[in-house]
Amino acid sequence: MSDETVNAGTSPETLARVEELRRELHRHNYRYYVLDDPEISDAEYDRMMQELTGLEKARPELASPDSPTLRVGAPPLSKFNTVAHTLPMLSLDNGFSEGDMHDFDRRVRRKMETDTQVLYTAEPKLDGLAVELVYEDGRLTLASTRGDGIMGEVITENVRTIRSIPLVLRKGKADAVPSRLEVRGEVFIGLNEFRRLNKERLEQDQQPFANPRNAAAGSLRQLDSRITAKRPLDFFAYGIGQVAGAEFSAHWEILSTLKEHGFRINPLTRPQVPITDVIAYYQELAQKRHSLGYEIDGMVVKVDDLAIQKELGVRSRSPRWAIAWKFEATQETTRLLGIDVQVGRT
Ligand code: IVH
Repeated sequence: MSDETVNAGTSPETLARVEELRRELHRHNYRYYVLDDPEISDAEYDRMMQELTGLEKARPELASPDSPTLRVGAPPLSKFNTVAHTLPMLSLDNGFSEGDMHDFDRRVRRKMETDTQVLYTAEPKLDGLAVELVYEDGRLTLASTRGDGIMGEVITENVRTIRSIPLVLRKGKADAVPSRLEVRGEVFIGLNEFRRLNKERLEQDQQPFANPRNAAAGSLRQLDSRITAKRPLDFFAYGIGQVAGAEFSAHWEILSTLKEHGFRINPLTRPQVPITDVIAYYQELAQKRHSLGYEIDGMVVKVDDLAIQKELGVRSRSPRWAIAWKFEATQETTRLLGIDVQVGRT
């Protein structure tokens, strides 16, 4: 059925208004959640959202999977389907010291048979959950968990509720979107949001989550996406899987392009630096770690040049072109001062 047949009963004015509201709401969403630079007040945003919800309710034929109104969740599933990742979602080798970083750099240079310096892009290692998002002609059509790296669970409806994940790609500098783009990144919950969520759970006699990672995992693996919609999930993109209709030559170019398409990229990313700067960056991150507002558990170092990445290749489960350097586990001693026993509502 063509769009014209579907929308036969809707006036051109209504159709234009619906399209305008969707476009504007996507844009304001991007300004608020990705750029952190809103243009309009929350009240104005809510008014536009209400108007669109009203129009869509009155005319079900206008329904669209890309509508910003769908951030509220969809009817529950009975189970999660599984899907094979087009390209495996690999894990990372770990280093533990400055020496390990120099060894990594030496291995890279030996393999490339070069004495000149190789440039790396270093990023915080986010402590959340890896997901893959598939965009076809700019529209989010599938989202899955990492699973075992080969097969993941389909969580599209849940992912649609995450405000910092675009439902429709922005066109960016090239004024186009790739015909297929698989975006990878980490879903997480910020520390303030985590504390607020746990406070709310305690007030409702629900078990609090042990940490932000568990809260993010529990929220993402909900069969009822309307529950996910109420959880303060956030997302940073850190890479891609398969892509068609775009070409990249450097990891930093990928991250910059993802930003143009509407994704949040970690602002602390250190692009294209030699290994000595990578080591200094680790110390910097370790210092900043507790004032970021979200949990990170180390640093990820990636060879920036994609031709070199390709040359280096992968081992069975991890690439030779990347390495993680985790922070030392923080150990703290606490003293239990007392226990208050209370009677809950139930
Ligand atoms: S890149 C081939 N970048 O770490 C590289 N991973 O052990 C694959 N992670 O499952 C991942 N922050 O959940 C990459 N900036 C980052 C990351 C990151 C966190 C997690 C991710 C992945 C695990 C790999």
